Amino acid sequence: MIAALKIGNKEFSTNLIQGPLAGVSCAPFRLLTWRYSRPAFTYTEMISCKTIIYQSEHSLTRYLYKDAEEGPVCFQLSSNNPSELGEAVKRVTQAGADLIDLNCGCPVKKIRNKGAGSRLLTDPKTLFSLITAMKSNTHLPVSIKIRVQGDSDEKTNETIANVIEEAGADFVTVHGRHWTEHYETACRYDQIAYFSQRLTIPVIGNGDIKCYDSLQKMSQTNCDGMMIARAGMGQPWLIAKLTAEAANKNYKTPSTSEIGDIFIEHVERLAALLLNDFFAIIQARKFAKYYAKPINEANYFVEAMNACNDLITFKHLVKTYF
Ligand SMILES: Cc1cc2nc3c(=O)[nH]c(=O)nc-3n(C[C@H](O)[C@H](O)[C@H](O)COP(=O)(O)O)c2cc1C
Repeated sequence: MIAALKIGNKEFSTNLIQGPLAGVSCAPFRLLTWRYSRPAFTYTEMISCKTIIYQSEHSLTRYLYKDAEEGPVCFQLSSNNPSELGEAVKRVTQAGADLIDLNCGCPVKKIRNKGAGSRLLTDPKTLFSLITAMKSNTHLPVSIKIRVQGDSDEKTNETIANVIEEAGADFVTVHGRHWTEHYETACRYDQIAYFSQRLTIPVIGNGDIKCYDSLQKMSQTNCDGMMIARAGMGQPWLIAKLTAEAANKNYKTPSTSEIGDIFIEHVERLAALLLNDFFAIIQARKFAKYYAKPINEANYFVEAMNACNDLITFKHLVKTYF
């Protein structure tokens, strides 16, 4: 189930991956995930190619900064324009990407209206040009992250598998839901299995992995790697824990006071990255419910965090509750 993973010219000692999370997976989150879990690689947040090409260096820091203490990072791009994508691929290659992914799963209207994200799943011609543009502008492995057809009228699975193969992507990540489906709809393991069986390149299965049982369920699709997205929030050690459990070993989860220290480090690093304490606090309010899961009085802590406006109060609250 957990095994080495080879993608293009790169080899990883595990096939567990921390997935992209917009608003979350910038360098501090990834660094902590790497430190506590050593996944094969992590992902950036989705970055629009236009942003990369046209915005100032300063406003790109959040998206392009990769810390020296991080492990391998897959930079995820969004575009529907092959020449823009090609240019952005060159720039993220220079910025230190280890792999490069094109988002083909985002269900957000604003992204779909631009012909990007999950809209690409019904535009195979453009998708083909986008993948070949990525391939011809970098020596790094390139991939797409897709959603499945579900039981919609969009019979995309077979067409997309053909495009992936013909355009020469090095791997694909499959989130087992249609783009119209929310998390309440069960993940469609059978459709992930279709891609595993159909393609010779590595297939990464994604959807609902949060514990050893759900990891096992995903591995039954015969996928080559497994991506964890939401469950990594507030527990950067999750992949290490799953790895230990798969080897029948005990894993010692950090104590609540250690978790508090991890939360503080996350937010301090964000403040340094964003050069703005208040922006970091706004993010901290969002992360509070994830880090607070194991503590007593989690609800009170989250409530107190919603009224917190500065780093000193934040640290005081964490020290009090954790
Ligand atoms: C807050 C949030 C942000 C996300 N941002 C991205 C993103 O930037 N790019 C992407 O491909 N998927 C994104 N996703 C989807 C996840 O990467 C993943 O495909 C999905 O949550 C299913 O996996 P999970 O059950 O392990 O969370 C996001 C999901 C959430 C909840």
